[in-house]
Amino acid sequence: MAEQVKIGKSDVVSTPLGLGTNKVGGHNLFPDLVDAQGAEVVRTALDHGIEMLDTAYMYGLGRSEEIIGQVIKDYDRHKIVLATKAAHDPAQKLAPNNRPEFLKKSVDDALKRLQTDYIDVFYIHFPDKDTLKYEAVGALEEEKKAGKIRAIGVSNFSLDQVKEANQDGYVDIVEGKYSLVQREAEQGLWPYLQDNHISFVPYEPLALGLLTGKYKDAKGFGDGDWQFDHDPINFGTRFQANQASVEKIRPIAEKHHTQLADVFLAWYLANPNISVVIPGARKPEQVVQNVQALDLQLSQDEYQLIDQTFQNLDK
Ligand SMILES: NC(=O)c1ccc[n+]([C@@H]2O[C@H](COP(=O)([O-])OP(=O)(O)OC[C@H]3O[C@@H](n4cnc5c(N)ncnc54)[C@H](OP(=O)(O)O)[C@@H]3O)[C@@H](O)[C@H]2O)c1
Repeated sequence: MAEQVKIGKSDVVSTPLGLGTNKVGGHNLFPDLVDAQGAEVVRTALDHGIEMLDTAYMYGLGRSEEIIGQVIKDYDRHKIVLATKAAHDPAQKLAPNNRPEFLKKSVDDALKRLQTDYIDVFYIHFPDKDTLKYEAVGALEEEKKAGKIRAIGVSNFSLDQVKEANQDGYVDIVEGKYSLVQREAEQGLWPYLQDNHISFVPYEPLALGLLTGKYKDAKGFGDGDWQFDHDPINFGTRFQANQASVEKIRPIAEKHHTQLADVFLAWYLANPNISVVIPGARKPEQVVQNVQALDLQLSQDEYQLIDQTFQNLDK
């Protein structure tokens, strides 16, 4: 098992492989989800030693948190790292709201849905237009002092917004879009996070399944396909180049007798700028597959080859 990682300046620690749960109860985001299967995904993750469960109010407008809350009743709460997020305001057609009173109410609501008395990591899910970011984080610092949350996170914040949010040094963790086919965070964000002891969690690390190699038959994506609509660049103009890069890595997977997903997850796990990797899963067997990344040690040459293969894809 890999060593545990510490989250920012907080006392939260986690195994470096977590579980993304937007397909656990996220009916508003994905069609054809089955709650019982979502619960099984969470159980499978916990049974395989995964500690961080990454959820959000937005995943099913509370449903994901409720399913997780139900499942974790059968486990030792202290071995689980619950990370959730809020900002989408039902009273404003789900537009982001970072006002202190809204965030504090969101913490209380999440605690109820998760059936717990503390949340390990609480993220502001998206920035709003008006609230001063350090005031929003200041409200979470009060929740931390009250023992309701243990670490403070922000998500989908630009570098300037992260800096403003961290004016008083309270931000422990940033969650942002990052994968080998989406590497912008490396330039501006990572150096600031490193300098300020803030952890980074990449979301969509498997590029919505693209990095599993399962689309190798060059399935054409277009309008109406969920992946294309969500990421028209990586599943549109860059799709063939992405696929070609993924296939260049297949020999590494074969050499290690494993799947491409594990090779890419192992690459993130070996990257010192990345704290916890939270691949999403629709099915329990995907969790069983992905957890194998914890036992996969890439050589320095393999690490570099993957790095180089996915450089300049956007040029
Ligand atoms: N902060 C934010 O704004 C934000 C935004 C997005 C996501 N997130 C979080 O980040 C997590 C990860 O992102 P994500 O789930 O959207 O994308 P992802 O991790 O890049 O891709 C996950 C998807 O890939 C497929 N997959 C996973 N393992 C597989 C395997 N071994 N073999 C084949 N297919 C596999 C599954 O989808 P199919 O089976 O349907 O193909 C799974 O749902 C989310 O679950 C969520 O917790 C946060």
